[in-house]
Amino acid sequence: MKLMLIMLLGITTGSVCSAARSTTDIAYSTSANMKVRTMQEKPKIEYSVRNGRASDRDDLKALYIKVASIPGGLVRTAEEITDQYIDSTLNAALERGIIIVAEYQGKLIGSVIKYRPTIKILSHVLEEGSVLVDPEYQGMGIGTKIYTTLLDEVKEHHPDVLRVDLRVRITNPAIRLYERLGFKKEGEFKELIRGATGKLESVIPMTWFNPNFKDTELE
Ligand SMILES: CC(C)(COP(=O)(O)OP(=O)(O)OC[C@H]1O[C@@H](n2cnc3c(N)ncnc32)[C@H](O)[C@@H]1OP(=O)(O)O)[C@@H](O)C(=O)NCCC(=O)NCCS
Repeated sequence: MKLMLIMLLGITTGSVCSAARSTTDIAYSTSANMKVRTMQEKPKIEYSVRNGRASDRDDLKALYIKVASIPGGLVRTAEEITDQYIDSTLNAALERGIIIVAEYQGKLIGSVIKYRPTIKILSHVLEEGSVLVDPEYQGMGIGTKIYTTLLDEVKEHHPDVLRVDLRVRITNPAIRLYERLGFKKEGEFKELIRGATGKLESVIPMTWFNPNFKDTELE
């Protein structure tokens, strides 16, 4: 009952959520000329969602390396997830942004980080940072939950933020997730990056607008 209440209230920090485990539970069996598809029951996990903190550093680094080891998602390779990259990202998020993490059995299984650039003309934009979920737990709603939590935090506590920006490679299925969250495509950077196969790939800039933005600069 308490758990239901917490989820309904959408409390951003320290909330407990549940998700169905594993996206690979679909079994196919073939007979003569017929394909039978059976869907197995997905076990549920209960994980918690909270704001990230400095002490998450090592777990965060391990999560980034695990996710970056699978090409096609994060733009950095696992080798490019250096101490310096993690420290600068985490510090920037703690100083001038938001970090939300998902935790399961004491382990970080998801994270979304967004932070402002340092230049003043972009102080109304959360631009840098990324979302990632441990591959073992992808497709269970965790990415949606942590990103929704971040956007709720912007709506409730950051009236000075107008835009949350991101860039996503055109082949990344995460585009559907972003569209469901309310992000809109704002064009296309043609053949901007070298994809995992070596081919050049386009990148889609997307943005979400804070409905509670207050432009105090003009007051
Ligand atoms: C993108 C990501 C954070 C989504 O988190 P998630 O917990 O798997 O997402 P959810 O379960 O909440 O939502 C599922 C949606 O995410 C998208 N998605 C992206 N990658 C996915 C994956 N490997 N498995 C399942 N869904 C994925 C799809 O749009 C899916 O919606 P669909 O069912 O309509 O296809 C996660 O898959 C991930 O870490 N990917 C690798 C890193 C990455 O690409 N980050 C974004 C860089 S711009």
